[in-house]
Amino acid sequence: MATSKASKVKLDPARIPAHIAIIMDGNGRWAKRRFFPRVAGHKQGMQNVKTITKAASRLGVKVLTLYAFSTENWKRPGSEVNYLMRLPVDFFNDFMPDLIKENVKVEVMGELDDLPPQTRQASEKAMADTANNTGMILNFALNYGGRDELVHAAQKLAKQVQEGELSPDDIDDRHFANALMTGFLGDLADPDLLIRTSGELRISNFLLWQIAYSELVFVDDYWPDFSPAALEAAIAEYQARDRRFGGLKK
Ligand code: FPP
Repeated sequence: MATSKASKVKLDPARIPAHIAIIMDGNGRWAKRRFFPRVAGHKQGMQNVKTITKAASRLGVKVLTLYAFSTENWKRPGSEVNYLMRLPVDFFNDFMPDLIKENVKVEVMGELDDLPPQTRQASEKAMADTANNTGMILNFALNYGGRDELVHAAQKLAKQVQEGELSPDDIDDRHFANALMTGFLGDLADPDLLIRTSGELRISNFLLWQIAYSELVFVDDYWPDFSPAALEAAIAEYQARDRRFGGLKK
């Protein structure tokens, strides 16, 4: 069900989802509706990353994972790809003082070696500049694909087997989870809540392993319009769900 109820809701502060992941969709349609070029939607989308980062941090979210660029987004026109690759540079330039003030720790996961040098350097600098922050982790998925991540995890484990460090029979959920790009998040690696904006009802190769038991909330707002009130409404919907993880109702 797609919802966009953004009226004031009452949240249980003890049950704020520890890890929220967001597929930030609808920038292009937001721009088109206003007769703007698509990239204007991405620019507004970047502004909204700041707004939602602050809102999530203040609500007590521990990890916010944002899908900023997929391994499939290279198929877009070169001018749009170039613009999207420039966004992290601008974002970190503008927003670093606020990120430090909010005690937010930046992480960037994906095929970072294939990014343009400027994008990669800006990402690495943001991670280094916030490495000692102890608040919310703002985790960008940049040049990230869920299948690519699974393939690399399998390769990593196969190498460990080949080098005699691991026996195939010992490979379990925990080994696999640790070999994924989210391994560094430990117990927080799996999102409690996955939100997709813009009314599309798809996962689009995002966190395929990690969302096995995530609660999914689809909202109609285009990403640039997704407000802190809409975030709270999505959390309220999450809090109304009964999470059973394959077990029975408590
Ligand atoms: C999907 O909308 C959005 C993207 C592919 C890019 C998301 C990027 C941002 C929101 C900005 C990221 C900011 C930082 C700091 C990295 P779409 O273009 O597919 O929209 P459409 O479906 O309406 O065409």
